[in-house]
Amino acid sequence: MAKYEIIGGTPLEGSVTISGAKNAAVAILPAALLVEGVCRVENVPDISDVRILLEILRDMGVRIQEEGPGVLRLDATHITNRCPNPELVRKMRASYYLMGALLSRFHQADVALPGGCNFASRPIDQHVKGFAALGADVEETDDYVYLREGPDGLHGSRITLDVVSVGATINIIMAACLLPGQTIIYNAAREPHIVDLANFLNTMGARISGAGTEVVKIWGVERLRGGSYAIIPDQIEAGTYLAAVAAVGGNVLVQNVIPKHMDCITSKLQEMGVSIINYDDAIRIRSTGKLHHTTVKTRPYPGFPTDMQAQICVCMTLASGISRLTENVYETRFFGYCTELQSMGANILITGKTATVTGTKQLKGATVCAHDLRAGAALIIAGLAAQGTTVVENIHFVERGYERLVEKLTALGANIRRIDD
Ligand code: EPU
Repeated sequence: MAKYEIIGGTPLEGSVTISGAKNAAVAILPAALLVEGVCRVENVPDISDVRILLEILRDMGVRIQEEGPGVLRLDATHITNRCPNPELVRKMRASYYLMGALLSRFHQADVALPGGCNFASRPIDQHVKGFAALGADVEETDDYVYLREGPDGLHGSRITLDVVSVGATINIIMAACLLPGQTIIYNAAREPHIVDLANFLNTMGARISGAGTEVVKIWGVERLRGGSYAIIPDQIEAGTYLAAVAAVGGNVLVQNVIPKHMDCITSKLQEMGVSIINYDDAIRIRSTGKLHHTTVKTRPYPGFPTDMQAQICVCMTLASGISRLTENVYETRFFGYCTELQSMGANILITGKTATVTGTKQLKGATVCAHDLRAGAALIIAGLAAQGTTVVENIHFVERGYERLVEKLTALGANIRRIDD
């Protein structure tokens, strides 16, 4: 098992370029199954979740060519196998998007239940409710979902989500794309990657409006044709570098970002005393490493993202006074990293869905274990800020979602190396 060794205490200086958004890429690549023709996709991050997805698609007969770094050509015109490999599907979360894509294109889908980061119970009842409303017969077993065209055929429908779900919103958009009639999703999630997926599909000939609002409308079309599309920059990768600079101190230009997507994160960092300057597609952050306490409550977009909970928590452990961090999306998410941070000297008390964090002057290096992707990112930030050496184990979680992490941090002056056991 590989690990990172970090010697903390060096301020971060220079510039870092953010990669394409993981959570957009893992939706857009399965969406290529809806298209008869070549989809050219730019800004595809080279991360393990994307590699697994490409392996699943290749195995189904999708022709995939790499045109250059981060630029792929996918052609799903002739699918030879409609059943995604269950072992690969179970290795990641977003493989559930194969359900919506296959249902829409082939009117049936047999897909294993997904795996991925297990920081909480992650039901898919809202996805299933959406498929059923679109006319699918759904059979669920312990480890598989089988979707078939129901007796009245597949058709557009009105669906109100009971919880704001990114995955269900995306899956229903995909499923409705090629079905006759209009579908309306009420209480839809509004994350930037939902807008990105809708823009991708519209570029390929779909008719989707309202993505990025609570009501998304999809008018089914007969077929999607090929086209070219560039994935947006990764909001959470950018937020992770911003949190790292805030905690460690330094002066960094974070390039290839959409500053508007970052407002929910940068406004909190500013409250903590960090200087932020927004440019058209970059953000400059300056931090002395001396932070003020704050209050953060995670919410669906445009609220503070749950995927930044762990990283902001590290900033809170180093801030003056008492901060409060409330998790409203995945209540059990604290358990993936708080014990590890405590072993580095952090003072965190968890009561229900709120962590009370009393700032300390200095974290100290320790050997810690990543239990999921963002927990791992937080431990790396803690290691960069800590005195002494930190070893972060289980880094395969981190490599799911951060492209060339060691290279990017090293270029900022960090002392981090990957060790293969
Ligand atoms: N939920 C249900 N039923 C459903 C779906 C969701 O009750 O059918 C609940 C969940 O339990 C959770 C809330 O609704 O409490 C929101 O879940 P959502 O469906 O939005 O999460 P997701 O689509 O499974 C995506 C991201 C996660 C991110 C969440 C929340 C992808 C591939 N994953 O997951 O990203 O935490 O949205 O923003 O897009 C990560 O990148 O590290 C990551 C975990």
